[in-house]
Amino acid sequence: MGAAGPGALPALALLLLPLAGVRSWSATSLPAPPLFNVSLDAAPELRWLPVLQHYDPDLLRAAVVQIVGDRVPKWVLELIGKEVMKLESLLPQPFTDEISGMCDFLNLSLVDGLLVNLAYEYSAFCTSIVAQDSKGHIYHGRNLDYAFGNILRKLTVDVQFLKNGQV
Ligand SMILES: *[C@@H]1O[C@H](CO)[C@@H](O)[C@H](O)[C@H]1NC(C)=O
Ligand SMILES: *[C@@H]1O[C@H](CO)[C@@H](O)[C@H](O)[C@H]1NC(C)=O
Repeated sequence: MGAAGPGALPALALLLLPLAGVRSWSATSLPAPPLFNVSLDAAPELRWLPVLQHYDPDLLRAAVVQIVGDRVPKWVLELIGKEVMKLESLLPQPFTDEISGMCDFLNLSLVDGLLVNLAYEYSAFCTSIVAQDSKGHIYHGRNLDYAFGNILRKLTVDVQFLKNGQV
């Protein structure tokens, strides 16, 4: 997923799931997700803000609160809230700076921002599909079996990362 290396946290713009490289969206009847550039030349705190500006901040905050609240018991949230600095230091850069920049922009607590970015780790179960067509092309599909598809459908984006001004 773009800037994220193997095993690293994908730099999810909160819920905005980068779908870099997914071009054959027309296979389904859903409209293509919007395409955005995210520049790695910009400071991590700032690089996702141009994407966030396309969304209603209330919608984004409500989505984060719903997903975190749905998945994480309240007492755990309170406990983590006290330890947020530790949680922050456990996550690799530049992701923490990206997340804190987005939280500042959205007036969202850093705990919620960090936890929603970990939602994949604590809630998703994946279905993987490997197939080959009659011309020998191999397809690898990965279905994130999230319970909140209704939210994610509205917040899915196709991201092109830029470095030195190049895609
Ligand atoms: C992304 O950046 C490239 C290179 O500068 C540019 O050609 C393209 O129009 C940009 N696309 C969007 C969606 O902003
Ligand atoms: C965040 O809060 C500040 C101060 O209350 C306000 O001016 C700003 O519009 C808010 N930003 C968003 C995205 O809601």
